[in-house]
Amino acid sequence: MSSPHARIDEKVHIGPKELVMVLTGAGISAESGIPTFRDENGLWQGFRFEEVASIQAWHKHPHLVWMFYSMRRDAALQCGPNSGHFALVELERKLGDRFFLCTQNVDDLHEQAGSKRLVHMHGELFKSRCDRCSKPPFEDKRLYETADSIPNCQCGGRIRPHIVWFGESPFYMNRILTELDRCSLFICIGTSGAVQPAASFVRWARQRKIESLAPVRTIYIGPDEPENGWYFDHFYQGKAGEVLPELFRVE
Ligand code: OAD
Repeated sequence: MSSPHARIDEKVHIGPKELVMVLTGAGISAESGIPTFRDENGLWQGFRFEEVASIQAWHKHPHLVWMFYSMRRDAALQCGPNSGHFALVELERKLGDRFFLCTQNVDDLHEQAGSKRLVHMHGELFKSRCDRCSKPPFEDKRLYETADSIPNCQCGGRIRPHIVWFGESPFYMNRILTELDRCSLFICIGTSGAVQPAASFVRWARQRKIESLAPVRTIYIGPDEPENGWYFDHFYQGKAGEVLPELFRVE
């Protein structure tokens, strides 16, 4: 069974006491020119993801891993936020601390648009960190395209991308679970619902609804129904940059 389609001209009303959690995926940056992962011409094309996005890959060929993330840095540096990102900034402006944004994206387009209350659960493309010691991640826009260009930390460890790879734990899970637990509206945008744990967030929100009878609404926005589409109350079919700017009515 799939989620009911909502008419694009049907506004989503947000009441004065509502708490909103937004989860974004690669789809929100698609109109900015950053390819998604699983669509045709997706990011993994040309690279098998296990070759470049796992700790095993890092230990086996760090140079190939950095080539891939350097390519992504270079591509993302050419892109700017689109009207979908700006619509979320406007929503945050109206809701203040009743708004929380969790993105699976590692690009910085939400920040560039002006989003403040956000976390990057899969890391940040323009940050790096040591693969050995616990020094905090640092801003880094450099490209490491040759084997001997990968820098070392003072401790002797190697500098790696600040990205959550397959087999690693996403960041900010405590904060995310708290927000998921208190939101009354869960909005999911541009994610295929194929990668855990983010794919389960909507189910956890609904579970809460079943257990407490709290009125949690769940909506999805994107051109294709996601794999977890069944769990959404409404599916607004269309591109984020076209649907989001007109979607919300905040009371
Ligand atoms: P996917 O590539 O799996 O899904 C992208 C989704 O965006 C698809 O469902 C598309 O239909 C949708 N889409 C495409 N264009 C859109 C548009 N203009 N507006 C709205 N939606 C659009 O990407 P994610 O679900 O984000 O993890 O992938 C999840 C994770 O898989 C990523 O964060 C990444 C990857 O492994 C890590 O890097 C750890």
